[in-house]
Amino acid sequence: MDFTKKMLRDDALAGKTIVVTGGGSGLGKSMTKHFLELGANVAISSRNLEKLQNTASELENETGGKCLPVQCDVRNYDEVEKMLQLVLAEFGEVDVLLNNAAGNFISPTERLSANAFDTIIDIVLKGSKNCTLAFGKHWIDKKTENTSILNIVTTYAWTGSAYVVPSATAKAGVLAMTRSLAVEWAKYGIRCNAIAPGPFPTKGAWDRLLPGDLKDKFDLAKKVPLKRVGDHQELANLASYLVSDFSAYLNGEVITIDGGEWLKGAGQFNLLEAIPEELWDQLEAMIKAKKRG
Ligand code: COA
Repeated sequence: MDFTKKMLRDDALAGKTIVVTGGGSGLGKSMTKHFLELGANVAISSRNLEKLQNTASELENETGGKCLPVQCDVRNYDEVEKMLQLVLAEFGEVDVLLNNAAGNFISPTERLSANAFDTIIDIVLKGSKNCTLAFGKHWIDKKTENTSILNIVTTYAWTGSAYVVPSATAKAGVLAMTRSLAVEWAKYGIRCNAIAPGPFPTKGAWDRLLPGDLKDKFDLAKKVPLKRVGDHQELANLASYLVSDFSAYLNGEVITIDGGEWLKGAGQFNLLEAIPEELWDQLEAMIKAKKRG
């Protein structure tokens, strides 16, 4: 057994219907694949229907599960409502909303146009809000029990981060929404949790965010105490647990899965990691000599 293997039993998500926004590629696709392996019906959404259709048939062939592609720009509330109706028509009910769709521009903030800033806020914050509101209203109206919302945030949702300010601002809002609704909607049987992933490379987004040789210049594994990036299965295992009934008592939590990355940047003396053993010997000897003197 290791972290690239399945964690939960094969029927862990049997009978559940899960909607994954941004499920056509990247981490959303990896989580979708695993949900299907564990017996869930999954609807994936994004703006690009052709990509969704390809992903859905690929994953259905690989897993034997049922995957419904639904075109939807999460920025548009009407489209989100239509997506919900399509999912209900196909599967009868929906149990889980995974707000995964995101966008990000790495840039000095002053170089961004107002529209560029809005674009990220609209996808990440407004998109998550649109889906959360539409699904929440439906669940409350229909008195659907045992439902949950899982939001993908990021570790800089609470620290902030230079050069990704629209994303940091939006993700902080999503985190606040997670914790607020965990309390407010618990009475309706709706749990709200979040995952804050560290570096989990994906082809599309990472090539776009760090083009050319930037990826090699900024080797993100070097920033991680565990000295490696995440494996998609690790994230899929955690997400599956959080949307399963095994996590029924987990509500309002944000689980960081980053190998210790953000804490490494935070601790005041963490940079002393660079000091080799021999230098520690010398420093200890110097300090002890001073004491004796
Ligand atoms: N840096 C700065 N500004 C950018 C930009 C970049 N890399 N790319 C686009 N913009 C600006 C555009 O110029 C435009 O502003 P303007 O109208 O003032 O000129 C604005 O942002 C919107 O751009 P547009 O291309 O119309 O946005 P879109 O809605 O079609 O797509 C994304 C936006 C984020 C969905 C798209 O860029 C994308 O698919 N990105 C990859 C997905 C991603 O970022 N994943 C990361 C997950 S964390």
